[in-house]
This record gives sequence, structure tokens and C-alpha cells, in this order.
Amino acid sequence: MSDLLKTSPVIPVVAIENPDNAVELCLALNRGGINAIEVTLRTSKAIAAIKEIKKHCPKMILGVGTILTPDDVLASEDAGADFLVSPGLSPDLKVALQKTKLLALPGTASPTEALTAYEAGFHMVKLFPAEAVGGVKLLKSIQAPIPKVMFMPTGGVRTSNMRSYLDLPNVYAVGGTWIATMNDIENRDWASVEQKATEAVQIASSPKASV
Ligand code: 3PG
Repeated sequence: MSDLLKTSPVIPVVAIENPDNAVELCLALNRGGINAIEVTLRTSKAIAAIKEIKKHCPKMILGVGTILTPDDVLASEDAGADFLVSPGLSPDLKVALQKTKLLALPGTASPTEALTAYEAGFHMVKLFPAEAVGGVKLLKSIQAPIPKVMFMPTGGVRTSNMRSYLDLPNVYAVGGTWIATMNDIENRDWASVEQKATEAVQIASSPKASV
């Protein structure tokens, strides 16, 4: 398993409309104890925002999410991504993610998809949309038959359920938009981002329950 995200159990998934907000967003997350981010390619200015983070926040482990095509992989590599996240794994995207030297976390939503990703060389994947496809129950059920695949659940993960995911032996991190919502970012509500980041880090560092 890659060590890149070893110290990042909580990864905010963000959509940044205005690149001018990118650095302050990262500083607020850093103040809250978060050192990794997934910037989604869901806005027209996402790549510009990623470049800003790369330039001004060198300590932030920089993920690019909503990777849908081989071109997205190339654009993200160019912009300075440290890791790549996709919601699923199509045949063309699979080849592009196999070629990249970056850590690639393809999306899976079922045992078959997890096995397919594993067979393609991806041992760390994303479970998406986690709550909708079974969440903690699904991950518990597939841990014994598919023990070598490690998951980052996103989609419906919040402060209320993140700990139950992190307690699972097949979960290396959780991700979600709740820590820095589009509203928080547009309103430049850095105090709220910092507070939610602090809370999430506290929950993540509380003792692991036995499952
Ligand atoms: C993602 O891209 O991983 C999801 O949009 C995150 O889902 P959430 O909004 O429920 O956190």
C-alpha cells in the first residue's frame, strides 16, 4: 500500500470556483490539522486552483478528483497532482491510470468492481457512493473474501459516521465534501472550514473501536 496518505485519514473533497480562494482554503484546512485535499475537476477553474495550491501550499498532499478521462489524467499530472481519484473505472481510464506514475485511487461500488480494480493493479481504491451502496455493512461483508483491497469511502460520509468507517481494517481514509462545502468556500468562511477540519481530525485520532 502506498504511504502517501498514511497520515491523512480525512480527505476533504472540494469544488473550487474561484482559484483566488484555493490557498486560503488550504491554510484553513492546515490549521485544522488536515494535510491532504482532493480538488475535483467539477468547476471550470479547477486546474487553475490546483496550480495555485501546488505553487503556494507545498506541504499539502494534492489530490485531483472527478478524473473521468485520460485527458483528465494528463491535465492533472501537468498541474502538479500528487494523487488521482475517479468515481469509477472505465476501460480507457483504466489504461490511463495504469500508465500514470501518480497514486491512482479508482472508484468502485461492488465486490466485482473491487476485484477488477485489484486485478488491474489498484490495491487502494475509493468506495463510491459509499452510503448509497451499503457503506460500513458492505465493507464489513467484503473484508474477509477480498482482504487485500483497501478503501476510501466517499459519498454520504459525515462527522456522524466517519469513525465507524475508520474502525474497519479495510479502510485507509474517508473523504467528503462536508468539511469545506462550496458555500463555505464561496463565502470564504475559513473559520467554519477550520472548525470542521479540527473536529474531523479529532474524531479520526480517537481510539479505534474493535469491529
Ligand atoms: C465525491 O466526489 O467523492 C463525493 O461527491 C463526495 O460525496 P459527499 O458530497 O456526500 O461528501
